[in-house]
Amino acid sequence: MAFWWYGAVLYHVYLRSFRDSNGDGYGDLGGLLAGLDHIAALGADAIWLSPVNPSPDTDWGYDVSDYCAVHPELGTLAQLDEVIAEAAARGMRVLLDLVPNHTSDQHAWFLDARTARDAVHRDYYVWADPKNGGPPNNWLDDTGEPAWDWDGATGQYYLHNFLPTQPDLNWRNPQVGREFDAIMDFWCDRGVAGFRIDVANGLFKDAALRDNPSNAELLPGHLPVPGSHGQQHIYNYNQPEVHGVYRHWRARAAERTPQTLLLGETWVLHPSQLAEYYGDGDELQLAFNFPLIFACFSAREFARVIAETFAALPPGACPIWAGSNHDLPRLGTRWAGGDQAKMRLAHTVLALLPGVYGLYYGDELGMADSDIPAELQRDPLTLGGKNGQWPRDNARSPMRWTPDGGFTTGEPWLPLGPDPSLNVASQDADPDSMLSFTRDLLALRRAIHGGQLNGYEQLHVDDAVFAFATGPAVVVANFSGEEVSWAGVGETGTKPVAPWSALVYLVD
Ligand code: GLC
Ligand code: CA
Repeated sequence: MAFWWYGAVLYHVYLRSFRDSNGDGYGDLGGLLAGLDHIAALGADAIWLSPVNPSPDTDWGYDVSDYCAVHPELGTLAQLDEVIAEAAARGMRVLLDLVPNHTSDQHAWFLDARTARDAVHRDYYVWADPKNGGPPNNWLDDTGEPAWDWDGATGQYYLHNFLPTQPDLNWRNPQVGREFDAIMDFWCDRGVAGFRIDVANGLFKDAALRDNPSNAELLPGHLPVPGSHGQQHIYNYNQPEVHGVYRHWRARAAERTPQTLLLGETWVLHPSQLAEYYGDGDELQLAFNFPLIFACFSAREFARVIAETFAALPPGACPIWAGSNHDLPRLGTRWAGGDQAKMRLAHTVLALLPGVYGLYYGDELGMADSDIPAELQRDPLTLGGKNGQWPRDNARSPMRWTPDGGFTTGEPWLPLGPDPSLNVASQDADPDSMLSFTRDLLALRRAIHGGQLNGYEQLHVDDAVFAFATGPAVVVANFSGEEVSWAGVGETGTKPVAPWSALVYLVD
């Protein structure tokens, strides 16, 4: 069966930074409506929206207080319906961000849960008694602080793998699963095409709440996960029970036409762990490739992770490649160090691999990370660089639409990126701009991969060159500062490949 996402481009909108429609300085659904033509002109097939639900915003929407409504600061349910309809009119589908691992501490379930040990929603969350007068185990949350908070009124600890304002749900309680079935139905009935599943490798925790080992005990060849704060999170993530949830969701997804798309935020380091989330083709249809995100920008490293991915995925599985997101340094900085040629090379390789290509807003303009001063940072999770955290705000600078901004008529919630040339209007008018390049690249991608799940064959790798064949295309990527030559281009023979660039040709 061919799915609509084969060969698709998924454009990732971090809504608060995309475009503001009412001058309050925060991007919103009205702004997204105004910016849809830009996304469509890129050649995107779908949009992934960062969370739109009501939230106290201690983690900018990833702390949901009502799963079946729209945050008033972002717009209305009617506007979201309009986004879905207007996107469809431009040939694009809309995915929402679903946050099943935890709720806000202001969600009605948690407010009830902490009223009493026998409260109706008590067992929706993970509660535990103290151990030796302290927390139940050594688990650390995403900020490096203890993952347990004491609830004095009811005399137990509750678990939070993120902030204390984000209590983890207890997926061992079948009622939690039923709630999420209903939540997903609510949105699918409104025309949502699928979900990006937040913390998809979370959900279940070790039933015995065993202590996590330290990184000092890492298996040979294993690397510490970024942000792991010295701990291997083997008992609070990647539990086998989570696969039952995804088999259930997939079976329900398959009841809809077209099938609801389930895309996991699978924060794992090894392609073999990633592959587990595809199950036997009966779990998630897509799982973000973090092993590639964490790879060095080199021919050998890219070739290695890509080969390992194809070797690990079950037959017929569709990979998804993305170089940037709202939690990590943008590829423009992380891989390219601000160099436009390297950015173009990175996008070329990712966009011409078979599968889905995830493009983070602003990467089409060549945005790199901002360096937002501490006093202007807004992300409570990384604020102040606590426990060595990197400020995620740097990857969330508002998009520039015109040379003087065009993001908002008011004060932007985060400062715009420092380079005014990285704006839509100027680059639209310039055939040599990163934007024009991206449009051409995505048109080429569509010609090669549109509607298809092409095969992958590594042709060559050395210190400088990584070459692969896919469908009708051969991609020769030069990851070096020296020109190289590539032989065997049909009848034309040897061709030069400029430093930090790729040669792409089609074979019949
Ligand atoms: C995911 C999101 C991130 C959020 C976290 C907790 O990693 O991408 O932004 O802080 O989950 O929900
Ligand atoms: Ca706004």
